[in-house]
Amino acid sequence: TRDPLVVFTPSGKRGHFPAGTPVLQAARQLGVDLDSVCGGRGICSKCQITPSFGEFSKHGLTSQPDALSAWNAVEARYDEKRGLKPGRRLGCQAKIEGDVVIDVPAESQVHRQVVRKAASTRAIAMDPATRLHFVEVAEPDMHVPTGDFERLAAALEREWGITGLRADLPVLAGLQKVLRRGKWQVTAAVHRDHTGGPPRLLALFPGLHEAGLYGLAIDLGSTTIAAHLTDLDTGAVVASAGVMNPQIRFGEDLMSRVSYAMMNPGGDAEMTRAVREAIDTLIVEIAAEAGIDPALILEAVFVCNPVMHHLLLGIDPVELGQAPFALASSDAMNLTARELDLAALPAAARVYVLPCIAGHVGADAAAVALSEAPGRSEDLVLVVDVGTNAEILLGDRSRVLACSSPTGPAFEGAQISSGQRAAPGAIEAIRIDPETKEPRFRVIGSDLWSDEPGFAEAVGAGGITGICGSGIIEAVAELRLAGLMDESGLMGSAEQTGSPRMIADGRTHEYLVWDGSATGGPRITVTQGDIRAIQLAKSALYAGARLLMDERGVDKVDRVVLAGAFGAHISPKHAMVLGMIPDVPLDKVTSAGNAAGTGARIALCNIAARAEIERTVREITKVETAIEPRFQEHFVAANAIPHKTDPFPELQA
Ligand code: FES
Repeated sequence: TRDPLVVFTPSGKRGHFPAGTPVLQAARQLGVDLDSVCGGRGICSKCQITPSFGEFSKHGLTSQPDALSAWNAVEARYDEKRGLKPGRRLGCQAKIEGDVVIDVPAESQVHRQVVRKAASTRAIAMDPATRLHFVEVAEPDMHVPTGDFERLAAALEREWGITGLRADLPVLAGLQKVLRRGKWQVTAAVHRDHTGGPPRLLALFPGLHEAGLYGLAIDLGSTTIAAHLTDLDTGAVVASAGVMNPQIRFGEDLMSRVSYAMMNPGGDAEMTRAVREAIDTLIVEIAAEAGIDPALILEAVFVCNPVMHHLLLGIDPVELGQAPFALASSDAMNLTARELDLAALPAAARVYVLPCIAGHVGADAAAVALSEAPGRSEDLVLVVDVGTNAEILLGDRSRVLACSSPTGPAFEGAQISSGQRAAPGAIEAIRIDPETKEPRFRVIGSDLWSDEPGFAEAVGAGGITGICGSGIIEAVAELRLAGLMDESGLMGSAEQTGSPRMIADGRTHEYLVWDGSATGGPRITVTQGDIRAIQLAKSALYAGARLLMDERGVDKVDRVVLAGAFGAHISPKHAMVLGMIPDVPLDKVTSAGNAAGTGARIALCNIAARAEIERTVREITKVETAIEPRFQEHFVAANAIPHKTDPFPELQA
């Protein structure tokens, strides 16, 4: 008689095993992805499986309900204490007795997929660098003079195949107490290094550690710092928070911060201190919000532009302010929290900083490349991450090019007369009737348009406060569509346009969107200066994209992805009317949400993604906008709305 046949779903892996083989063991031998933290002791419940009898019967598999061994004492005890879902078994306890189909539910898979919320092309496969391993450590013995750490390392090698374990001093310092408190049963958080370095013990917990491990994906921008606290087991984001980058007081944009470092001895260190302190505060806040002990945050991944990258690492950024824009190092960084003085994290927590692409194209662009994977695209895709600097990637399977373009903060509502950050009360969408020239708009925090009943109540007591980035883009595009502004961006007078909303403002005109002054609210207008600021920003963006297209030898792209916390809210139609992006069919413009933040999350949750992006950045062709004369030509031609010379046939359609 043959040994029982076992088929695992969803992998479809199968094999024959002698009766009495534990399911976990069969899964390991077949390379089936079945989790375990306790090493088969029946206490972690990570190995849960569901026998699904008969599903494969048409292929000749004759499963019987008794194809698995009956409940044993360990399983019964677990069920009594914690409760197993109906139909579930512990894979380390249930033994194979006959032919059986075994389903591994998603939560029992080590490399489970986390579905991304944004319009995503890729799910995140969980395989974090740091994992938990439960072990029993041999007690010390006078006659065998080994250290506690060495016996722990031996146990991890014996039970989990982890060789060459190292520990930093802060972990060693607490090790002996934990071993004794756990009565020599402990859970080790071990970090694997994807570059071939030794595995590291990051933390040790007494007994079976069930409170999980967490990591931070941090998008360190010039204006804001955003952090996502992520469960390293499930990949779920348990809390997100953001703060202003305090370096703003040293300079609004990157170049003024570089000048600050140039002009003030010790200025770079001052900015480094400020940003690290802000990150620390943010970590404390986000952990408190999620109700999580910061001691459980053992990893952090950073994405940032080159200047922020240097200032985070404590490297003087002056070289980035002048050609040839040399980075101190473009490589990815593997560090500890202590090296970055991040006191909110355990000293041994690991910090990974994504690699930079070039002196002007940073780790944030690398993160976008990881998230949107233009190098895997069949068709030619233009990815634009809109921010104070636009990160632009163009490519397909054959080749990817990247540049960064200094758009300035206008797209984020800064330097706009009625501009503000995207927050409740900000106008985020606007339409201007081409006949009456009257506006209607929507503000953040309400779904209603301003001409719909109930709008005032929906906006609430805070009222209408200003216009955010997506609002100003729509406003300028709508002014053009309504004929209130010519191709050069010049607004007409009330007489010329027949609209009393065009109000003289010195020698130019402004368009009155909303006058709340009667009730103590703001008067919201779009001024000629606002339009000029948006023209400069959009020309820089378009010129960067055109430069990459020239380099690639094409005059059109197949599709456009708008990324960035704010890029996600831009209306594709208005972006095209404005001439921010090259002409493509409107249904070929998609939004990717905060792609840089997503890239950081991918690198946090999947160790292979780190190796992947380090490889990818080496293959990306870098294009430097600052020294390229054609950039200036494209910039000037792109000043017109939508463009002086480039055709926009899709707009006509
Ligand atoms: Fe931990 Fe089965 S492996 S309960």
